[in-house]
Amino acid sequence: MRELKVGLIGGGFMGRAHSLAYALAPIAADIGATVTKEVLVDATPELAATLAQQLGWRSSSTDWRELVERPDIDIIDICTPPQFHAEIAFAAVAAGKHVFCEKPITNDSAEAARLTQAALDAGVVTQVGFNYRHAPAISFARDLLASGRLGTPLQFRASYLQEVGFGADPNRWRASRATGGSGAVGDIGSHIIDMAELMFGDIRRVSARIRTMAVGETGWAEEGGQVDDDGRIDDSGVWLAEFANGALGSFAVSSYASGRKNRVYFEADGTKGSVEFNWNSREELKVSYVDEAKDHKGFRTIHTNNEHPDGWWRLAGLGTGYPEISAIQFQKFVRAIVDGGQADPDFGHATHVQQVVEAIIAAAASDSWVDVAPRQDRS
Ligand SMILES: NC(=O)c1ccc[n+]([C@@H]2O[C@H](COP(=O)([O-])OP(=O)(O)OC[C@H]3O[C@@H](n4cnc5c(N)ncnc54)[C@H](O)[C@@H]3O)[C@@H](O)[C@H]2O)c1
Repeated sequence: MRELKVGLIGGGFMGRAHSLAYALAPIAADIGATVTKEVLVDATPELAATLAQQLGWRSSSTDWRELVERPDIDIIDICTPPQFHAEIAFAAVAAGKHVFCEKPITNDSAEAARLTQAALDAGVVTQVGFNYRHAPAISFARDLLASGRLGTPLQFRASYLQEVGFGADPNRWRASRATGGSGAVGDIGSHIIDMAELMFGDIRRVSARIRTMAVGETGWAEEGGQVDDDGRIDDSGVWLAEFANGALGSFAVSSYASGRKNRVYFEADGTKGSVEFNWNSREELKVSYVDEAKDHKGFRTIHTNNEHPDGWWRLAGLGTGYPEISAIQFQKFVRAIVDGGQADPDFGHATHVQQVVEAIIAAAASDSWVDVAPRQDRS
């Protein structure tokens, strides 16, 4: 069987999740290759060595430039803060490596488009870490929409709420655009934009409001928290969207929603039925069909198992968590490499999501509806 050797850059929160996921991916299904966790790169020799040992990597390094040039490495996996993503990804693509990059691939959609083109020119497989969409219940919802079982898409409502803003370290990299922070819209909003486009197709235009927390966490900052001048980020946002197919969308994100741990939620309505998903009950999809008998109308709860896309276990209810959905995304990535195909979601899709993020920020700043750039055809 083919062996794929991975070099991971950045062994923090996501580096840990990816390390778990690479171990799970080839065990849970035949993915056509073995995956070897070859090198872990981090900022200092001590940190890199400690993390490599703990997370199960064969060796460690502080030099990502040397790593991407190594002929024995097949995959470069980028888990650093976002301001380093593009430079590493361009170098990896130029060296002919397949690249998995955490979201956002960059906070600049023009740069994302150039990176996408560079990867296409090099003929390498790319994938971005929109991991939540790989929950089998979400893949099932996507299939219900794609097959027409829910009819014509009508309305999509989504939110991603956390309470991580309260008391957060003001010097964390996420706190400023200058250190790679994407704001709540870019950081967590990008996941629900990804899900919306997965299910309803591309977003055509948006109108929005965003807010930044005042120092001392006493309320929203003056002037609606306009974010760009001092590099501060948006901590909260709401936006309306119109999809290219005419469907409507409404979205909310916040890092200041007390009691909300990691609440990713959506509802999608079609002319023949609706679905509801809550990450905190991530194995379940609630489904309602219009053509149900009058005395049975209402939502039923489907517990996903291996009858559903990407499900691992015959027995529903065993538990599907963060490591599992991260592993599912690597199963698809490795399969795309082995089969010589394209992964999904790839850098081209990441570029479009970033364009939506930028349109939301621009709509908030201009107090108007803003068109989203149409998705570029593959060339
Ligand atoms: N998909 C998801 O669910 C999800 C969740 C959290 C974070 N993320 C994304 O993952 C990325 C990393 O976030 P995180 O929370 O893991 O950050 P983190 O701060 O926990 O970890 C970043 C790691 O990168 C290392 N690092 C920084 N600069 C480096 C460099 N130049 N070379 C090598 N190593 C370097 C740091 O020392 C640290 O170990 C971000 O892009 C973030 O948006 C995605």
